[in-house]
Amino acid sequence: MCGIFGYVGKKDPIKICIGGLKQLEYRGYDSAGIAGLYEGQIKSCKEAGKIASLEKKILSEGLKLDFAIGHTRWATHGKPTDQNAHPHFDEKSSLALVHNGIIENFSQLRDQLKSKNVRFTSETDTEVIAQLIGQFYRGDLLDAVQKTLPLLQGSFAIAIIHSNHPGQIVAAARESPLSIGYDDQHTESIVSSDPNAFLPSTSNVMFLRGDEIAQVEAGKISIFNSTLKPIEKKIEKLESNYQAPSKEGFEHFLIKEIYEQSSTIQKALLGRLNDESACIEFENFHFSDEYLKSIRNIWLLGCGTSSHAGWIGTMFFEDLSRVNASVEIASEARYRNPLLASDTLVIAISQSGETADTIAAMREAKRRGCSILGICNVVNSTLSREADSTIFLKAGPEMSVCSTKAFSSQVAVLALFALHIARLKGLSDGEMRKYFAHFRKISGSIQQVLEKSSLLQTIAKKYAKYNDFFFMGRRYMVPTCLEAALKLKEISYVNANGYPAGELKHGPIALICPNFPVVAFCSNDQTLDKIVSNLMEVKARGAPILAFAPEGLHSIIEIADDIFWLPESIDPFAPFASIVAGQLFAYYIAKDRGCDIDQPRNLAKSVTVE
Ligand code: G6P
Repeated sequence: MCGIFGYVGKKDPIKICIGGLKQLEYRGYDSAGIAGLYEGQIKSCKEAGKIASLEKKILSEGLKLDFAIGHTRWATHGKPTDQNAHPHFDEKSSLALVHNGIIENFSQLRDQLKSKNVRFTSETDTEVIAQLIGQFYRGDLLDAVQKTLPLLQGSFAIAIIHSNHPGQIVAAARESPLSIGYDDQHTESIVSSDPNAFLPSTSNVMFLRGDEIAQVEAGKISIFNSTLKPIEKKIEKLESNYQAPSKEGFEHFLIKEIYEQSSTIQKALLGRLNDESACIEFENFHFSDEYLKSIRNIWLLGCGTSSHAGWIGTMFFEDLSRVNASVEIASEARYRNPLLASDTLVIAISQSGETADTIAAMREAKRRGCSILGICNVVNSTLSREADSTIFLKAGPEMSVCSTKAFSSQVAVLALFALHIARLKGLSDGEMRKYFAHFRKISGSIQQVLEKSSLLQTIAKKYAKYNDFFFMGRRYMVPTCLEAALKLKEISYVNANGYPAGELKHGPIALICPNFPVVAFCSNDQTLDKIVSNLMEVKARGAPILAFAPEGLHSIIEIADDIFWLPESIDPFAPFASIVAGQLFAYYIAKDRGCDIDQPRNLAKSVTVE
């Protein structure tokens, strides 16, 4: 799971490659490296750590390259060491290769190569690809790559350079995404895991799949299928209104993105609530009203934060649209044998649109004949290209690895879509308008939470010393508390379990003791009394209690040690203010504990391997 990038053209290849890799750092930041040709020889620089330290090393070594490939790594096979950093080389160091993906049969391949006395210098699966290509190479790089690919089991996107082939990158991809672009003047070409890392001038893009191989030169790209037959690829125009991400005065991207939510929620709603017709409208939406009315089941797929949004979505579909809905973690869904009829709509949810498991599960559902709705933040992503229709979050780039604003926008879009179906099934003008009013209150209620962030900072200081937390809630607050617990785990490295409060008695209560704070998300009108009783049970066992409670819940005052009051809301929309409070709590605990907030250890923003 990594990012690969390559540049051939007149500009400084090192500068362009480093810039591209920084855009891809969300895919992993265990190590970084770059290689290219200079005076006919492969030159490289790589090391464990982030791209910023590679940049310094390149400067101190005075590296010069004519064109370059680069890599940012999330370690799968082998520790995050200098040795295991990409690029990897063949024995003669005449070729360099970067890879995103996993080679599942690498150990057999390595044993075979070792039996031919090939020497390995890393523990990676990637090095076997470089060594194999080196073994097959007889002067024709395309041919050597083509002979290697059928031997590989697993997923890959690779870029290769060879000292005998100046000004040329050979790239290939199986399941991992790989985009190749060139400018209108045909002066430069880029290879990248993600087209959003292209230069503003690179506006023509094509996507490799299914063992396709590309020969990339400055402004000139030739594509071949797996038997090396030249093929025409569809060239897409890339619309880029890219702006360099900035923290805008905030200390971290995470806190900036938490604060952005009062406006990103508005962007998710923008142009979608039609007051005149009392209908919901989505741009470039390809599902007919007849089809949507015929849906009997909805299956929501996602990973991590996106699966929590999907869980909230199931409640929207049941409560608002009266359609059966279930959510499944995509890594499990992809290996199930589900009974999917044509009246099942599959909704694939992903901030990045590149999560390998979500894409695989979506493809499997498509293969079984289901229609796919994508809910995604990143335009041009694999998910948005392959779904039958996509509703975009319009939340802007999310830079922090820990997802915040994408979550609230996913929940908002799911609520919009659920109401769209409800309207098609006959929800009245009056009811729709009531929901429109509730939608319009979300931004204000998020703002109210943000304005009290200093209170959460004080509360977090008190709780930062604990190493274990128990989060609980009921109904809409179950996925909300799971998401809040995930935030704490991700950025504070603190053990935080989220549970439906009713399950407390079925095991977890055994853990409750004075050293084990309980964080209760109470904003669910339907079950208020129930969660208050659960908290009494906790209090009786001496655990410190922090309650995120709706204003007016007086009974909580005697029970909780700390209370953060949340604006009142209808149950389905309570997750918005609640999660912002949970995100702030996690942020301030992580800050107090001195953690790497924007790039937590071991994580990557986009998980592009399974
Ligand atoms: C990674 C990220 C999470 C994210 C998950 C799903 O684990 O660290 O923040 O929720 O992937 O990502 P997606 O882009 O599919 O929403």
